[in-house]
Amino acid sequence: MTVSIRRASIDDAEALARIYDDASVRAGTLQMPYPLVSTWRDRLAQTDGQIILVASSGESVIGNIGLHLNLKTPRRAHAASLGMGVQTAWQRKGVGSALLAAVIDIADNWYGLARLELSVYTDNEAGVALYKKFGFEIEGTLRAYALREGVLVDTYSMARLRARPNITPR
Ligand SMILES: CC(C)(COP(=O)(O)OP(=O)(O)OC[C@H]1O[C@@H](n2cnc3c(N)ncnc32)[C@H](O)[C@@H]1OP(=O)(O)O)[C@@H](O)C(=O)NCCC(=O)NCCS
Repeated sequence: MTVSIRRASIDDAEALARIYDDASVRAGTLQMPYPLVSTWRDRLAQTDGQIILVASSGESVIGNIGLHLNLKTPRRAHAASLGMGVQTAWQRKGVGSALLAAVIDIADNWYGLARLELSVYTDNEAGVALYKKFGFEIEGTLRAYALREGVLVDTYSMARLRARPNITPR
């Protein structure tokens, strides 16, 4: 079935809460168990400084990605961070790649950003492989970064640097 990418709306809150209610998806993120639909609604209502896209198949939302801009910090305006997740049943089918490609297009070609950054748990093989495929590099390891199922786990800081936007030739 065709997967399409679109901007998230408040009506996607329930689907997104359900995706992150899955322990294996949550394990790759900083999301908490028993997510509230209202938390997602509030998150989606906040349009300033963040762009949230969803992947859908037919009527179903199957994944999302958020691009978080630094609008209030001029000296960090060239950089943005991202976070994402794909419903377990849809993983390894190209959905994560489609979401990440869409956000990179926005970052590169519409905001002219020079740096995209993220944190990924060091044991998240799928995440690390996906990000490397799109040109992200490991910049360092953050020890005991987050609590996950009772254990303080390490993350990699990864970033993708890009040259300045092209200039139209004369
Ligand atoms: C990480 C995640 C977003 C990847 O999404 P996906 O839709 O499965 O990714 P894709 O199918 O587009 O795969 C892209 C690449 O990632 C790598 N990859 C994906 N799943 C993998 C796995 N289980 N093991 C190793 N590499 C994997 C492959 O390099 C793949 O490219 P290929 O298919 O050309 O070989 C998804 O696994 C997920 O949502 N995990 C739980 C939440 C999470 O970890 N979010 C990221 C937080 S930093």
